[in-house]
Amino acid sequence: MRLEGSCQCGAVKFRVESPHPYPYQRCYCSICRKTQGGGGYAINLGADNATLRVTGRQHVTVYHARLKDPGDARAHRSPAERHFCGICGSALWLYDDRWPKLVHPFASAIDTDLPAAPESTHIMLAFKAPWVAVEAGPKDRRHQRYPEESIAEWHARLGLAEGSVMEQATEAEERILCRLEDIPEGGAKGFPGPPGSFVGLFAVRKDGRVHVYVNSCPHIGLPLEPLPDRFLDPRKQVIICSAHGARFRIEDGVCVTGPCIGEALEAVPVRVVDGQVVVPASAGL
Ligand code: FES
Repeated sequence: MRLEGSCQCGAVKFRVESPHPYPYQRCYCSICRKTQGGGGYAINLGADNATLRVTGRQHVTVYHARLKDPGDARAHRSPAERHFCGICGSALWLYDDRWPKLVHPFASAIDTDLPAAPESTHIMLAFKAPWVAVEAGPKDRRHQRYPEESIAEWHARLGLAEGSVMEQATEAEERILCRLEDIPEGGAKGFPGPPGSFVGLFAVRKDGRVHVYVNSCPHIGLPLEPLPDRFLDPRKQVIICSAHGARFRIEDGVCVTGPCIGEALEAVPVRVVDGQVVVPASAGL
């Protein structure tokens, strides 16, 4: 489905092809609420980044949210780019180069009539403002943080996805690492690299999300684990390199203590499809 969007003042207009245009997922996190969800939540759609066309791009401003999770000493910058109109402040779309084939237009910016979602998913409820009421239907799903189900998977489950060239190409270029259940919640698992690669990959599952990194420490490139699948500290709070003790945040791979402080593990885009953990076939090459 082609989506046409614009800011309130009209300085920025855009269009993009979306195989997943149903506005079903309401995010109640403080970033969404403050930057574009005056009613307490915001809705992102899924679209094909290669098809995004923008007029008035000179008026677009990009914001990286500041994130501070429990246990973090300091806030850090989100890698996600939130695009706004620099004149009127309308939120337009989100892009994250960890998933370069995707772009997420905000439903609030879309002028095309969107199809009504038959059911909704309410996410990041742990961060909901107390005054916000969750108006949920009988089939709606609720999650304290991120759900396992992606936007594409929701559309597929309900038979609402539109086939796209992007999806077909993506599937051909991807590799199934393992089943999601092979990685215990709060645990980690290592994998060999693709054919021709000298480095492996590893996955960590935390708070309902899967994070995958190239198994090469930014200090001097050694693999991190001393024993198979031993990537985390005993409390399972951080990733540790056994060579010289560097510690990395699970959420973004940034080194917080050790000889490579401030550098980051190479993150691998990952998605969970039908209970399978899927990464680009080239990850680790
Ligand atoms: S190789 Fe990882 S800390 Fe030195």
